[in-house]
Amino acid sequence: MARHLITSALPYINGIKHLGNMVGSMLPADVYSRYLRQRGHDVLYICATDEHGTPAELAAKEQGLPVDEFCAQAHDAQKAVYDGFALAFDYFGRSSSAQNVEITQHFARRLNENGFIEERAIRQVYSPTDGRFLPDRYVEGTCPHCGYDRARGDQCENCTRVLDPTDLINPRSAISGSTDLEVRETKHLFLLQSKLQHEVEEWVSRHEDDWPQLASSIARKWLNEGLHDRAITRDLDWGVPVPADTWPELAAEGKVFYVWFDAPIEYIGATKEWSDQEPETRDWKSWWYDVDSDVRYTEFMAKDNVPFHTVMFPATELGVREPWKKVDYVKAFNWLTYYGGKFSTSQKRGVFTDQALEILPADYWRYFLIANAPESDDASFTWEHFTATVNKDLADTLGNFVNRVLSFSKKRFGEEVPAGGEPGEAERKLGEQIAELLAEYETQMESLQFRKAASALRALWSAGNSYLEEKAPWLEIKTDKDGAALTLRTAMNLIHLYAVISEPFIPTTSTAMRQAFSLPDDTATWVSPAEAKSLTTLPAGTPFTVPPVLFAKLTDDDLEEYKERFGGEPA
Ligand code: MF3
Ligand code: ZN
Repeated sequence: MARHLITSALPYINGIKHLGNMVGSMLPADVYSRYLRQRGHDVLYICATDEHGTPAELAAKEQGLPVDEFCAQAHDAQKAVYDGFALAFDYFGRSSSAQNVEITQHFARRLNENGFIEERAIRQVYSPTDGRFLPDRYVEGTCPHCGYDRARGDQCENCTRVLDPTDLINPRSAISGSTDLEVRETKHLFLLQSKLQHEVEEWVSRHEDDWPQLASSIARKWLNEGLHDRAITRDLDWGVPVPADTWPELAAEGKVFYVWFDAPIEYIGATKEWSDQEPETRDWKSWWYDVDSDVRYTEFMAKDNVPFHTVMFPATELGVREPWKKVDYVKAFNWLTYYGGKFSTSQKRGVFTDQALEILPADYWRYFLIANAPESDDASFTWEHFTATVNKDLADTLGNFVNRVLSFSKKRFGEEVPAGGEPGEAERKLGEQIAELLAEYETQMESLQFRKAASALRALWSAGNSYLEEKAPWLEIKTDKDGAALTLRTAMNLIHLYAVISEPFIPTTSTAMRQAFSLPDDTATWVSPAEAKSLTTLPAGTPFTVPPVLFAKLTDDDLEEYKERFGGEPA
């Protein structure tokens, strides 16, 4: 069986992420990883915080912390939220790790040996007051085109024109406000991506037919515009240092690599972090180096990340001229909007992942988000839609089914799966329907169609409800006690099946459902459609308990409260 390497775009260190970030990368990667593990595959799911760059430096400064301490704290804060969402990473690393420094420097040396790196002198704004070069967006001033007085050095927000920092009238540092600015000449390393254009094109054309359209169309667009050489170093304190053995002068000036150069390399770096923890049993290179088709590599990301993952990082990997594993499948997502507008940190619009968990347990969010993932188009989050979905699918269809069946059976037959009755036409029909829907669920999961997989799962839950309504054991019991026992036993078999197959979506609830039954040797991680058909895994006599209500029904008052707290209006 193939080994599966899975990564999700590395969340930037600065700030807790909102639900849109969660649904566009980490959550679907977790659902897919869990599914593959359940199916018996060898899976490695790697993620990490992306820690370098100016925003981290500035945020640390604002909090009065050294940047390494700020990052350590922010990493732990993000990790705690992801644990709360039950994201089962094999490893959640940090791009500032020693492992990433080592591999990033190695990549740079090899690119240099192969003629893909060049030193070039550029002119850049320097602020003596801040004691540093200023990235374009940290120079502010008046726009020469429209007169807007807070235009940034890369672009005017007001008239959207692209600017150069030297275009600005009365330029000042966005960090200190200082107007004492100079233009200084400084040397940087450039990655000669233009020389790799053809190779990347050739590589993309071999893969794009397999990728979803969203990923391949973005990759194509970037290739058509042509790959440009780009500066891969910066004048910052916080980053992977340029190696002194290769570039002594730049190293002495304290240059570091640009965050987008070292971040994707951290996929490999984090795997080594994982492996270094247990070197006797884990082998990071066996996942990344010279593995080709032994490993299937799937990456999850939102659409803004596609160019970096389909074009730029592959260019780097190709230029290194070593057999590093490249992505096989790129699962890209559109945006989740909040009432049709952007999630906005500054305007406090939208729901952040830590707040979400304050309100409701992870399974509510996991199910809703994946069932409404922005796959083929942007999707809008509204509290109305969220509460309606929770009530209908989770509380009524699944939760109520479980509680109704188990409570009623306990009341009439005691705390063991009841014996009696022989499966008949209704059970045969149900079994066939379940087998068919389960096969559909597997197909959709395997093709990473998350919305469709959620629909199939929902249909499996609904099938149980229809069966129960049709057989109506609460009436049946009055005239045919064995018949009622058969119905309840069959329904309990469905509950056990749901516990197994719903795990990728709602892992905590699935465990609770499974633990309701004391089934000896209950170690099966999956049930095939053929096995599911018989609906007799759970024999009569198996002891069970009635779990507490699985999903609380959300009221109109809840809805009002959420809207008030988070702002439930179109932007
Ligand atoms: N931190 C980046 C973002 O938020 C994603 C980095 S993904 C990696 O867009 F591959 F570069 F690591
Ligand atoms: Zn302007």
